[in-house]
Amino acid sequence: MRGDPTLPGVDWHTWHRAYDSPDSALVRRLRTVQQRIALDLDERPPGPVRALSLCAGQGRDLLGALAGHPRRHDVTARLVELDPRNVAEAGRRAAALGLTGIEAVTGDAGLTDRYADAAPADLVLVCGLFGNITDADIERVTGYCARLCMSGGTLIWTRNRKRPDRFPWICRLLEERGFARVWLNDPDTPQGVGVHRFTGSPEPLPAGERMFTFVGYDVLDRAREQA
Ligand SMILES: C[S@@+](CC[C@H](N)C(=O)[O-])C[C@H]1O[C@@H](n2cnc3c(N)ncnc32)[C@H](O)[C@@H]1O
Repeated sequence: MRGDPTLPGVDWHTWHRAYDSPDSALVRRLRTVQQRIALDLDERPPGPVRALSLCAGQGRDLLGALAGHPRRHDVTARLVELDPRNVAEAGRRAAALGLTGIEAVTGDAGLTDRYADAAPADLVLVCGLFGNITDADIERVTGYCARLCMSGGTLIWTRNRKRPDRFPWICRLLEERGFARVWLNDPDTPQGVGVHRFTGSPEPLPAGERMFTFVGYDVLDRAREQA
């Protein structure tokens, strides 16, 4: 399976080193996502907040936003990530912050069963996914987002704006599925970040379904070049 850390392709553990280069586009994306998570928490009424992160990597977005945030102990989260090294790192980071409500699990985030007892959630993170799956799967995932997010829940998502720029199309798909646009970053930014709020009522998340297959941007880029 692509994305399996034991197979050749992008090493998704090493990939996170880009976050150590202070001026990389990925760091700017990370900071933006962290700021939007923090703002979302600022605006929430008191009480528990449930979060989900699909293909969570090392959880740097959510954990970075929670570090020092006054609502950090209100948040329980499930981070689903395939590479066990990233899962271990997320667990270490959560423990270092004293966050006991963060559950980092190793598994295929494309399966609905991973969220059976955790959806719908107040905050859903789909960061670093849309650039790694086919257009057909992007469309499917936007549909599932309306089942992963509770009514009034916030979806924070990313997609690079490399040509063909899929960012505006993903916005349209989400908006057709009952999401209201809250905020989008500047369209000249190479790494697009969007915040949408679910205004509908979530249908139950069906068991045993596949929402997407993680293909990888490298494979998708090669296929586009050969087309
Ligand atoms: C582009 S990175 C994004 C990581 C994180 N969301 C972020 O924005 O920092 C994609 C992540 O998806 C993980 N991944 C790949 N296939 C996966 C799958 N089927 N299920 C869960 N995670 C997967 C990779 O290991 C990698 O950590």
